[in-house]
Order: sequence, then C-alpha cells, then structure tokens
Amino acid sequence: MHVVTYATAARAAAAAAARVLDHLRRQPALVLGMPTGDTPVLMYRALVRAYRAGRADFSRATTFNLDEFAGLGRGDAGSYRSYMEAHLFDRVNLPARNACVPDGRSADWRREVSRYEQRIARAGGLDVIVLGLGRNGHIGFNEPADQLQAHTHRVALQPATRRTNAHLFGGMWQAVPTHGLSMGVGTILGARQIILLVTGAAKARMVSRALTGPITTRVPASLLQAHPDVIVILDRAAAANLWPPQSQPRR
Ligand code: GLP
Repeated sequence: MHVVTYATAARAAAAAAARVLDHLRRQPALVLGMPTGDTPVLMYRALVRAYRAGRADFSRATTFNLDEFAGLGRGDAGSYRSYMEAHLFDRVNLPARNACVPDGRSADWRREVSRYEQRIARAGGLDVIVLGLGRNGHIGFNEPADQLQAHTHRVALQPATRRTNAHLFGGMWQAVPTHGLSMGVGTILGARQIILLVTGAAKARMVSRALTGPITTRVPASLLQAHPDVIVILDRAAAANLWPPQSQPRR
C-alpha cells in the first residue's frame, strides 16, 4: 500500500481527482469504479472543474458505482443515482449509457446483481476504483461480518450505516432503506488499481485498523492490504493514528 497524506481534505480530494484525470488521459476508454458519501464530493468538484477547463474528456469512459440503496433509483432524492447525477453525471460529457449504478428499484434484485457483475466483466473489469471508508470499516456496502460476498449482492445495512446516511433522508435514520446493493469484495479487489480516499478525524481509528491491523472480514477495508496496487490518500486528521505518524503532509 502506498500512503500519501495531505494537509487538508481539499488537497487530498484534489490529489485523488488528479490521479483519476491522469488515468483518463492515458486511457480515454477508462472503466472507473465510483464512490458516494461526503468524502468524494470535493473530488467530483475537481473533476467537473477539469472538464469545464477542457482538461478532461469522459466521452469514452464508463463508470460503475459501488453501491445503491435497495428500493431506490433514478428520480429518488436519497438514491446514490441522484447523488451521482448531481455531482458528476449531469456535469460532464459521460454518455448516459456508460454511467452505471446498481438499480435498487429493480423488481428482481437477484437478476440485477448478476446483471451488474456481468456488465463490469463485459467492460473488461475495473481499471481503477475510488473508494471511501465507512466509520465501521465498510467499503461500498460490504459491512463487517463473519463472511463477506465476492460479487455484487444484496446486503442488510447495519444501524450505524443507516445513521450515517440519515442526512440523505431528512435526518431520519428510520427512513434510510434497510438494505443495499453493493459490489462484493471480489469485484472491488478485481480492480487493477484502488484509490482509497479518507478524510477527517472521525475516521482516524478505522484508518489505522484497516491499514495496519490484521486482515479480517470484521474490518472489510483491511482486505485491501492484500491488493498489489492500492494508493491511500489521507488528510492529516485521518492519518493521525498511523504509526509511524504520517505527519509530513505533502502540501
Ligand atoms: C456510504 C457508502 C460508502 C462510503 C461511506 C462513507 O455508506 N455506501 O461507499 O464509503 O458511506 O461515507 P462518507 O464519505 O460520507 O463518510
């Protein structure tokens, strides 16, 4: 794992965006895995800025989001599809047919998860995936458990995850769907490169467990230690519990 620490969350997000842009320049038909959450908002802003400045072309790229709430999809305010439209899809020249998010509203979720997995495979697999980190160590919606799923699947969301997503549902955690559809850990680890972007003091403890603790399904992000090409981008606050301290931020 290659860990890089920046002084602020904004700089960390800019660094993640710069890596994505670099991939896109070298490989215009990039297949890119995408996260949601508060953390990547600044990264998406930087990508949109680059597009507007003529420094990014998404016309041949394909994106696959990590996850979606079961029961939600296009047109639903709390859905990750709506988040992606607001932060990226409607703001750059990514063709609509190439902007893929699991369809939480599909009447047949079993078919939907296998369709999604096959679609990633047909695209040639993920060239690069950007991940966030849940406070409980989850990646996508792969929640801490005794066993994890390899492929895209339906998962019961833990109360903590429903609480941290409550802001998408008017602050009411009871309104957050009970289940999600998520890429599995095998889908994620199948990406040729993984960029883990984590900012903020609230994640510092989990960053240290995920990066330096034992590999365990109880901390799904710890499985990333087994991947040969992971770049971890942190701000100083998120890196605070790492030892030796990552205390010399880049910029
Ligand atoms: C959600 C998403 C995850 C994301 C996590 C962290 O649960 N399913 O993919 O990494 O939130 O979000 P935040 O960046 O808001 O802390």
